[in-house]
Amino acid sequence: MTVHSPTTAKHILLNAFDMNSAGHINHGLWTHPRDESHRFNELSYWTDLAKLLEEGLFDGLFIADITGVYDVYQQNIDLTLKESIQLPSHDPSTLVSAMAAVTEHLGFGITVNLSYESPYQFARRFASLDHLTQGRIGWNIVTGYLDSAERLIGQQGLKDHDLRYEQANEFLELCYKFWEGSWENDAVQKDKINRIFSDPSKVHQIQHQGKFYQSQGVFQVAPSIQRTPVLYQAGASARGLAFATQHAEAMFIGADHPDKVKAQVETIRKLIKTQGRDPESIKLFVGISVVTAETDQQAQEKFSEYIRYASPEAGLAHFSSSIGLDLSQFADDEAIPYKQSNSIVSVNNKFKQQRITPQDLKAQHQLGGRYPVFVGSPSHVAEQLIQFLDHTGIDGFNLTRTVTPESHQDFIRLVIPELQQRGRYKTTYTPGSLRHKLFQQGDHLSTLHPVQQFRCTPQ
Ligand SMILES: Cc1cc2nc3c(=O)[nH]c(=O)nc-3n(C[C@H](O)[C@H](O)[C@H](O)COP(=O)(O)O)c2cc1C
Repeated sequence: MTVHSPTTAKHILLNAFDMNSAGHINHGLWTHPRDESHRFNELSYWTDLAKLLEEGLFDGLFIADITGVYDVYQQNIDLTLKESIQLPSHDPSTLVSAMAAVTEHLGFGITVNLSYESPYQFARRFASLDHLTQGRIGWNIVTGYLDSAERLIGQQGLKDHDLRYEQANEFLELCYKFWEGSWENDAVQKDKINRIFSDPSKVHQIQHQGKFYQSQGVFQVAPSIQRTPVLYQAGASARGLAFATQHAEAMFIGADHPDKVKAQVETIRKLIKTQGRDPESIKLFVGISVVTAETDQQAQEKFSEYIRYASPEAGLAHFSSSIGLDLSQFADDEAIPYKQSNSIVSVNNKFKQQRITPQDLKAQHQLGGRYPVFVGSPSHVAEQLIQFLDHTGIDGFNLTRTVTPESHQDFIRLVIPELQQRGRYKTTYTPGSLRHKLFQQGDHLSTLHPVQQFRCTPQ
């Protein structure tokens, strides 16, 4: 296991991992008496959270999102409704301006499923958010995996998994043209004396005739600080990895064992290189859950108390939709067969490789779901996180909420000082945009990124 000395060791990047809903990953905890996630439809719930995360020097608040509902388990939505399994859930981008107004540094990683967006309208909305947040917006690029979404949107069934990525590739190309190919950096002059708000010679029409999209004209939003929002992605299948390593600047890796994460990190870094990019130009994150208290024993007691409110069955229902297979049809100790589906390929593939029963999945879904859980005293948790990071070569963590806001308060009060003492967590924010904070190389994407071919050059 590699252990860095404090002087050379890298700082751990940290996002809070959340959703604009009561149930997100740790299902059932909305019933805990101290949990406030039922207030997710109140603005003050989010502005308070944003302020708290900034006090804890979090790099970002990452908000997951799903278009559609989980109706695969028992082939209905009864449990989904009763347990609030990401239903109701609201549009995450509506939260950003309010949270940006009460913070100065916190980044916002917002999930948008491009399959149901028009590239133009989407690019305009995110460019506007980049202006209003002063360069703190990121986009988690997802393509969707629910048949229920197709029915809601009025389309003819989920597109083939790999075709979704082909469409995503073209969606991004077109967004790059809007964000980086239409307006030159100094097009906006705001010159009152000469009556020139924007210089016509510096604003260009873009042209796009593709397989999925067509567009022609000037983009309506002048360049924002980052131009392109910071790009997050979680592709894990062969096609998904190719897409992510071509475009992303931050990736999420699913993790059940540190050795597998390490192997995945090595594969990803190699793939980034084959794309002609710097292997370190993508920050790699793993989702985690943490339960901490002053001593190991108190943390274990808190963990036991939390899981009394958990709903492993809700976890199973969520999982059923992730793989597109009704898991209620199997006995608790029956091996779940692999069945090809059009859903999340990388999660589904586990059933080819391992014997997994509904009982195993329920045990895993008490707390943490698909993500590792760390329970212990602040120093114990800090040591485990550092070891995990150093062993696997990832850059940081997406911290799920358990009992909210208590779990983030605990983490900030107890674990962050331990990480800081070990030289593994920042003690102050770097000024500047989200991209600059993450890479220390300015506000814009590097010239090695595919965006480069779509940039307009001064004429
Ligand atoms: C940490 C993490 C967060 C994710 N968040 C979302 C999300 O908010 N919405 C969504 O539709 N998919 C989400 N996904 C699923 C991904 O979009 C993608 O389907 C998955 O990683 C598998 O990719 P694959 O199709 O290449 O196998 C997430 C995946 C991970 C690992």
